[in-house]
Amino acid sequence: MSMSNWAKGEVDPIDLDKEYEPVARPLSVLVTPENIIYPLHHQLYTGDSVAIMKAWPSDYFEACITDPPYNIAKDRKGLSWAFSSHVTIQDDWDRFTGSEYETFTADWLSEVCRVTKPNGNIFIFGSYHNIYTIGAIAARMDLRVINSIIWAKPNAQPNITCRMFTESTEQILWLCNNTNKKAKKWTYNYQHMKELNGGKQMRNYWEIPLTPQRERVHGKHPSQKPLRLMERLVLAGTHTGDCVLDCFTGSGSTLLACDRLERKWVGIERDPVYCDIAHKRIDEERRQRRLFPASP
Ligand SMILES: C[S@@+](CC[C@H](N)C(=O)[O-])C[C@H]1O[C@@H](n2cnc3c(N)ncnc32)[C@H](O)[C@@H]1O
Repeated sequence: MSMSNWAKGEVDPIDLDKEYEPVARPLSVLVTPENIIYPLHHQLYTGDSVAIMKAWPSDYFEACITDPPYNIAKDRKGLSWAFSSHVTIQDDWDRFTGSEYETFTADWLSEVCRVTKPNGNIFIFGSYHNIYTIGAIAARMDLRVINSIIWAKPNAQPNITCRMFTESTEQILWLCNNTNKKAKKWTYNYQHMKELNGGKQMRNYWEIPLTPQRERVHGKHPSQKPLRLMERLVLAGTHTGDCVLDCFTGSGSTLLACDRLERKWVGIERDPVYCDIAHKRIDEERRQRRLFPASP
């Protein structure tokens, strides 16, 4: 895919030169602490992310881009607008006590740091509910924070209670996988970001609309991220051919962005329904490439 095909801020979703290669079905593996299993490229694993990562070797991935549970599910049903397509999070995967959430975060972040190469990029999504907890744990681990990126949603859902500002941002914490003192040479594709921003330095404030309906045709996930946002992260923080981990895959937005941009990917998701959505999204897009064969 040549850079001249990219419109400002967007990426051509279909690389016409690429043959259709079916995506492997999500895999459930029996992990034991004694077994070291090498993660397969372009493979989604069904199961618990910490247990699966523990079976993997150290220093394997160039980067990790992930969107952990936000810890915002409530036992009561939240308010929502009638006829809105917005989905609130009421799932068990998102329900923790404060201390459970801290332990959970420390566990998965330690494993991510172990399986990611030193100085590899780690991008973590969060809202005000969880990003400070994650940031505090990263600080305790002495990890270097490179930036905090603000994802601003111009079409955020209105606030129904009218008792506070309309919540319309999320943060992406960008860490370098090393201590504050030792962190060096992390990947940042500065020129590419500048080009995408019309020749000006890219700022850490990204205005990108919520996930469009056309990205939800294979099923809905309550916190599905827009591909435009994921593509920008992949383009900014990884190189072609890098292997990228998403240990909380959900509907597969990170993996699909990597697949489009010729990065290897590995995902983990504990819910088989979301694994199925992620698999369908990537496989269907690869299949489309065959419908538009490259001209000789
Ligand atoms: C915030 S969502 C990720 C959404 C994703 N970024 C997308 O665009 O669809 C977090 C996901 O982590 C999964 N999850 C929660 N706890 C997990 C665990 N211990 N191991 C693996 N996956 C887990 C949930 O099922 C949920 O799909």
